[in-house]
Amino acid sequence: MTTDHMPPPTLQGPRVALHVLTRAFASNQYLAWLNDPEVLRYRAPKSRTMTWEDMVAWLDDVPADSRRFAMTVAGRHIGNISLDGIQKDHATADLGIMLGARDVWGKGYGKEAIELLVQYGFKELGLHRISASSPNPAFNAIMRSLGWDHEGTAREAFMCEGARINIERWAILASHPAPV
Ligand SMILES: CC(C)(COP(=O)(O)OP(=O)(O)OC[C@H]1O[C@@H](n2cnc3c(N)ncnc32)[C@H](O)[C@@H]1OP(=O)(O)O)[C@@H](O)C(=O)NCCC(=O)NCCS
Repeated sequence: MTTDHMPPPTLQGPRVALHVLTRAFASNQYLAWLNDPEVLRYRAPKSRTMTWEDMVAWLDDVPADSRRFAMTVAGRHIGNISLDGIQKDHATADLGIMLGARDVWGKGYGKEAIELLVQYGFKELGLHRISASSPNPAFNAIMRSLGWDHEGTAREAFMCEGARINIERWAILASHPAPV
């Protein structure tokens, strides 16, 4: 896709920009991520192949308690990141991320996007607590290196390629941010 169709960035880091995720980001590349076993390895298993219509329906159907962003680097859509389950009464939310383009894994873009979204959650949304949980070792390494609090382990809670693996649970508080 070209940058012409993208909404302007809401948040801009040194390399990663976050744009409100809309159907403008629908593309064959994005659809390929949604059906790529490598991308899906640590996500809930899909019972069927995702179609273009599924992708557009999901993009159009934004729950009132979610803020979804597309991640771009130099104008290229590389993945999505979101705050979901935003509970205004408690000022809490859950963070989720997907980096679809394999050639951009391991370059620090995920870490940068998480830092941007956490600042947005605390400063713009007034959140007090952001949590996240994942069986993905790369994701858990990012949480550890960003200084999120490790709140526990759901032992053998996730089936990954025939093996039962742990889900690690993390959180960060606005009043107790990670050390810089
Ligand atoms: C999780 C993910 C989004 C992270 O984004 P990223 O930009 O690739 O990650 P970063 O480069 O910011 O950081 C990766 C960190 O994980 C570490 N890491 C990478 N692969 C790892 C692995 N298999 N086991 C342990 N640590 C790993 C890196 O050393 C790095 O740690 P550091 O900051 O201490 O050096 C992405 O790599 C990924 O796993 N993609 C798979 C598809 C996907 O998006 N799945 C859903 C995500 S839960």
